[in-house]
Amino acid sequence: MSEASLPFNDKILPGRILKEEWEKSIKNPQEYWAEKAKAIDWFRTWDKVLDDSNPPFYKWFPGGVLNICHNALDRHLDTPRKNMLAYIWEGENGEVRTYTYYQLYREVNKLAKVFKNFGLKKGDRVAVYLPMIPELPITLLATARVGGVHTVVFSGFSAEALAGRINDSGAKIVVTADGAYRRGKTVTLKDTADRAVAATPSVEKVIVVKRTGQTVPMKEGRDYYYHEALAKVEPNAYVPPEPMEATEPLFILYTSGTTGKPKGVLHGIGGYLVWGYWTLKWGFDPNEKDIWWCTADIGWITGHTYNVYAPLALGITSFIFEGTPDYPAQDRWWEMIERHGVTILYTTPTAIRMFMKFGEEWVNKHDLSTLRLLGTVGEPINPEAWKWYDRVMGKNKLSIIDTWWQTETGGFMIAPLPGIELVPLKPGSATNPLPSIYAEVCDEKGQPTPTGVKGFLVVKTPWPGMLETLWKDPERYKQTYFGRWPNIYYTGDYAVRDPDGYFWLLGRADEVLKVAGHRIGTVELESALVSHPAVSEAAVMGKEDAIKGEVPVAFVTLRSGFSPSEELRQQLVQHVRATIGPIATPDAIVIVNKLPKTRSGKIMRRLLKAVLAGAALGDVSTLEDEASVEDIKATYDELKRQLEKK
Ligand code: WTA
Repeated sequence: MSEASLPFNDKILPGRILKEEWEKSIKNPQEYWAEKAKAIDWFRTWDKVLDDSNPPFYKWFPGGVLNICHNALDRHLDTPRKNMLAYIWEGENGEVRTYTYYQLYREVNKLAKVFKNFGLKKGDRVAVYLPMIPELPITLLATARVGGVHTVVFSGFSAEALAGRINDSGAKIVVTADGAYRRGKTVTLKDTADRAVAATPSVEKVIVVKRTGQTVPMKEGRDYYYHEALAKVEPNAYVPPEPMEATEPLFILYTSGTTGKPKGVLHGIGGYLVWGYWTLKWGFDPNEKDIWWCTADIGWITGHTYNVYAPLALGITSFIFEGTPDYPAQDRWWEMIERHGVTILYTTPTAIRMFMKFGEEWVNKHDLSTLRLLGTVGEPINPEAWKWYDRVMGKNKLSIIDTWWQTETGGFMIAPLPGIELVPLKPGSATNPLPSIYAEVCDEKGQPTPTGVKGFLVVKTPWPGMLETLWKDPERYKQTYFGRWPNIYYTGDYAVRDPDGYFWLLGRADEVLKVAGHRIGTVELESALVSHPAVSEAAVMGKEDAIKGEVPVAFVTLRSGFSPSEELRQQLVQHVRATIGPIATPDAIVIVNKLPKTRSGKIMRRLLKAVLAGAALGDVSTLEDEASVEDIKATYDELKRQLEKK
């Protein structure tokens, strides 16, 4: 390990403890994690901390036996935590429900019993398509209790996307709800789930949580209301937590990559839990007096790790919220923070930018003095948003924990760590890597870039929270993450390091967009568009957006017999929403005569990006037909004018 590439720099004096801890973890990961893993309850101790004999298929804690639901619930029952709140949940309509650890344990056991009665066995998959209601974490915990594997599909995905994920995972049971509340209105979920299940032969049972009470069709012998199914088992049902190997799967979470097919990121149990536990402890150091609010939906990785497994394993109280930040008014969040006494807020740059737009008077109406720490995740935070967060939310007194990580990494990877030692913060930098994370910024050849030179962010050593593989696709796992440079994890992000060694994250280096913090593959959108009969070719780009970070813009060419119209554009937007889901709604669809291509026929994405950014086009000598660039620019300008007129 060369001194120059160490993530810490001696100039940062308050970083000494952190540096020591980091070095210890890199020099002797076996010893380091053996000690840390003692924080978890094991039914049987591991044979080895890390088996790295078959890279990049690393095994953490092989031979170790545990159950993550036992760690989240059972083990707190003979401590004072038993009667402490695990969750405070607030519905969009203002209804509040609370669960102590004991109450949650009872509920989870009942659902686990229902799962057992439905024939769910160790290793079987459960697909979850629910809004942010307590039954969502309960379903995850009950699945893990019986040794099942959950796959949560965010409720903003379409029937087609849900069906694709159910089929890929081969789920036996689907847990959904009759409907959900969105800004005071009810939307249906069961209809969407039904359309999906019509195309998924593996599904045997559908459990339906009654949330809105709307009438939904229930199929005899397949569909069961959650409350009715639970009422049929004994009120004090007990299902022993299934003893699981540390390396057995806990969940599959589908995420966008650079091809049209989402990747089924597979996380195991032992390493993931150890990583979740320690990262939350290091990053926010929460205790029994805290009320932790991670605003992420459990449909995403942030919700999995930091709304379910890590906070429950640590035994703290989490607040979870069903609704949107501006309903019924733009101070909904601040009003709730005040009323519940939230102490730590962990949210996204998109949310912060939205609040900036609403105006600080909404924040200032409330007493937010219970807050002691702030966090952010999901996309690079621009210094302006960071400073607003610091000044308006933090009253210039709270630290901001900017956490860089990914679905694949299981938990934080680069972040300030007040739980070890807080280094001086810089607006817009996630600071330094966590223990065990040998992060580096590399050039195309895999060589470290000099200070101040942008490159690819990579990780050179395995860590406990890392994905085990891609579901049913180990080859793609190898190719995607370790295909560029042997045994070096490729993140797909750009980064740069400053003279203090701090990491600055600069966004995706691949064809993945971050729209309001949600990961969306441009190729997925392109596939959705070309599946419409009118579309011949499509190219989707990210365009900078003041609030969402970036938004998708699609350039399409039409098949003969179709001509551009506003109506067709609307149809295409609807088609994308129906194919992927509302979260993938394109910001604009630009219909053009021709897409710019290289002589070998590849669409020149760089040019389209330049058009969108209004930047200079650069070298066009490899273009088949230079005129098409002008074409696109003219059409885009025309469309922009049309949009502005409305
Ligand atoms: C981006 C979300 C800058 C990054 C946990 C990464 C960030 C992708 C940050 C993963 C951050 C996440 N600063 N960029 N603090 N956090 N990202 O899988 O591009 O939904 O690769 O996981 O989000 O998105 P994912």
